[in-house]
Amino acid sequence: MERQDLGFASAPIVAPRGDKRPAQAWRDLHRAASERYRRCGPFSWHFARGKLKGDPVFRALLASGAIAPGSRVLDIGCGQALLASLLAECEALAASNRWPSPWGAPPSGVHYTGIELMPADVARAEQALTDLPSRPRLICGDMRHIAFEPCHVVVVLDVLHYVDLAAQDDVLTRIRLALRSGGRLLLRVGDPAQRARFWISRWVDHAVTLARGHSAPPTAWRSLADWQAALRRLGFSVRPLPMSQGTPFANVLLVCDLERGA
Ligand SMILES: C[S@@+](CC[C@H](N)C(=O)[O-])C[C@H]1O[C@@H](n2cnc3c(N)ncnc32)[C@H](O)[C@@H]1O
Repeated sequence: MERQDLGFASAPIVAPRGDKRPAQAWRDLHRAASERYRRCGPFSWHFARGKLKGDPVFRALLASGAIAPGSRVLDIGCGQALLASLLAECEALAASNRWPSPWGAPPSGVHYTGIELMPADVARAEQALTDLPSRPRLICGDMRHIAFEPCHVVVVLDVLHYVDLAAQDDVLTRIRLALRSGGRLLLRVGDPAQRARFWISRWVDHAVTLARGHSAPPTAWRSLADWQAALRRLGFSVRPLPMSQGTPFANVLLVCDLERGA
C-alpha cells in the first residue's frame, strides 16, 4: 500500500477549464452510491442523496487521492457507511476506465471497516451494502470501547465532539497505535473561531442528534490550535483544510500524516 503523497497538497481537485469528465464522474458516483440505499427505505435513500450531494468532504476525499489503493480503512462513527458505498463505486468507475485523469489515483482494492454507535444506522448500512463483493465490515458499538484494528487510513468525520475531552484524547491515542507506519488520519472537526457558522453547526447537529434518538448529544469542542497541538504530540504532521464549502457550517478537515517508519 503506497500512500499518495500528492494528497491534498497538489492534486487538482478542480478540473482544467472545459474538462467535463470530473463533473460527470462525480454525478455517476453520487447516483450509484446513493441508489444502493433505496432498498433501506425513502429516509435512508434521501439522506444518502442529500448528504453526498451537499457535503463537500466525500468528493474531496476521493478526488484528491487521499485514500490510497489497497488501503485498510477504518471509518469511526460511520453512520450508514456512505463512504463504503462510494469506495465501491470508485472501484467500478476505475474498472470501466471512467476515472477522470485530473483526480488522484482511484481508491481501488480498499478494505473497509466501519464502527457506529447507533444500531439503526448499522442495520441500514448492512442492508445497503449487502451485495458488495468487497464485503465491508460493520461493527456496532462505542468507539470508546471497541479495539481498533491495524489500518492505513482512519476516517473520523464529525464524530469526536460526541465524547468528552479525555475520551477524545484516548480515541486519538488508540488511532495512532492502530495506524501503520506512514498512515493517515482524516479528521473533520468544527472550528469555533468561525463564530456564526460554528453555532449553526452546533444547532443543526444538536437538532439532528435529538431527531435520531441519540442517547449522547454532542458535548465537547476545542479550538483548531488545540486539535493540532494534540495531534502533533502524537507524532502527526497536520494540514488543516476548510471543508464546508457550499454549506453554512464551520468544518475543517485535518489531514494528519505519520512519517514512514513512525
Ligand atoms: C454527524 S454523524 C457523521 C456520520 C458520518 N461520519 C458521516 O460523515 O456521514 C456522527 C456519527 O457518529 C456516531 N457516534 C457518536 N458517538 C459515537 C461513539 N461513541 N461511538 C461510535 N459512533 C459514535 C453517531 O451515531 C453518528 O452516526
